[in-house]
Amino acid sequence: MKARVGVLISGRGSNMMALAQAARDPACPYAIALVASDKADAPGLGWAHEQGLATFAAPPGKAAREAAIDAALRGAGVGTIALAGYMRLLSDDFVARWRGKIINIHPSLLPLYKGLDTHARAIAAGDAEAGCSVHVVTEELDGGAVLGQARLPILPGDTPETLAERVLAQEHLLYPQVLAEFVEHEP
Ligand code: GAR
Repeated sequence: MKARVGVLISGRGSNMMALAQAARDPACPYAIALVASDKADAPGLGWAHEQGLATFAAPPGKAAREAAIDAALRGAGVGTIALAGYMRLLSDDFVARWRGKIINIHPSLLPLYKGLDTHARAIAAGDAEAGCSVHVVTEELDGGAVLGQARLPILPGDTPETLAERVLAQEHLLYPQVLAEFVEHEP
């Protein structure tokens, strides 16, 4: 029986697309049971709907949004939540209710550059490398255990945009692989 994954997005959803594409492989240990967004007009939500995936757009307001997402995830039989460009902080209560069941992809080599503008900060610091991390979500922003990382060199002349594009390509490879390993080791 495949693990049922709920993916939370806020926008473009390219990481969600990578997870959904990997899930088409019969050998993939997870299925996408729901794609949910805090934004009804998130482009990724439209794509997911076109692909025949179950989708959910949450109502506004933090408490209403989280209650609705929680109910939608439980209604879809979700056991694992994958944040994929979900740009809202989850409340401590939500994290506690799904303790150890939420993972996130973040565009930096954690513990470096938690939060926003990761690529600009890596370039400004003169770092030789950048990358992305998949980690367990806890109450601490981008602070949970790191499950996997991909790294690549920062090139002379890189801008935050050129670096983001190369890191994103790595995200699309890393996330499906780490999610598959994560659900296989779930209790
Ligand atoms: C990705 O680069 C992801 O790592 C980042 O937002 C982008 C979403 O793109 N996430 C964060 O910064 C979370 N703090 P996508 O919607 O195309 O997957």
